[in-house]
Amino acid sequence: MSRKRIIAGNWKMNMTPSEAVALVNELKPLVVNEDVDVVFCVPAIDIIPAMEAAKGSNICIGAENMYYEEKGAYTGEISPNMLVDAGVKYVIIGHSERREYFTETDETVNKKVLKAFEHGITPIVCCGETLTQREQGITIDWIHQQIKIAFLNVTADQAKTAVIAYEPIWAIGTGKVATTEQAEEVCAAIRVCIGEIYDEATAEAIRIQYGGSVSASSAPELFTQPDIDGGLVGGASLKPDFGKIVNYNK
Ligand code: PGA
Repeated sequence: MSRKRIIAGNWKMNMTPSEAVALVNELKPLVVNEDVDVVFCVPAIDIIPAMEAAKGSNICIGAENMYYEEKGAYTGEISPNMLVDAGVKYVIIGHSERREYFTETDETVNKKVLKAFEHGITPIVCCGETLTQREQGITIDWIHQQIKIAFLNVTADQAKTAVIAYEPIWAIGTGKVATTEQAEEVCAAIRVCIGEIYDEATAEAIRIQYGGSVSASSAPELFTQPDIDGGLVGGASLKPDFGKIVNYNK
């Protein structure tokens, strides 16, 4: 079975609404590749203008975060219904920066993943180890634990549609991309973990991205590995280079 590649940009806290429109317009003609689902995950305030600018293109606009309650007294948060009403189909959940700076835990990640599915939004569930954990040789155990908690009470049918982003924390924004072997090893281990939680069919269907300093030069080798189904791209998603990354197979 062949899984369609999914390449998502993670804009992080960059781009004002007007800059977002300009960037979507600039990248629109560059990110055309019928073999790939292309997603731009943008700051909440940029979602609507980016969505307008992306109309008629193959770009899908996603969010970078979402809260797990329906509505109410949660000042500053974005609800699932707000995303749905804006037309959002994907949301990044549990990025390591949210875990580090905004007290996101495996448990809140799980609540958000369940809530996203409840509202028909596809979560891009992030996991990844620190450099210390890698040096201690506990990478796979750590990732398995993150995945098991993130997918607690998620059904097999839901999991089949999910996206997991494996992002070694030491590779994010550092220019230090994991080797193809390191990335493939962990993505394959994540697939095994999904097979253990669910079954073979779910493991075969779920899409697993690599993220961490992906560039136009590293993308072709990374995205053609058997268990790497695309990427989550930070820095390079804000540049015309993103077009080359999306067209990694051309
Ligand atoms: P980077 O970020 O590509 O700038 O390393 C990736 C991410 O944090 O998703």
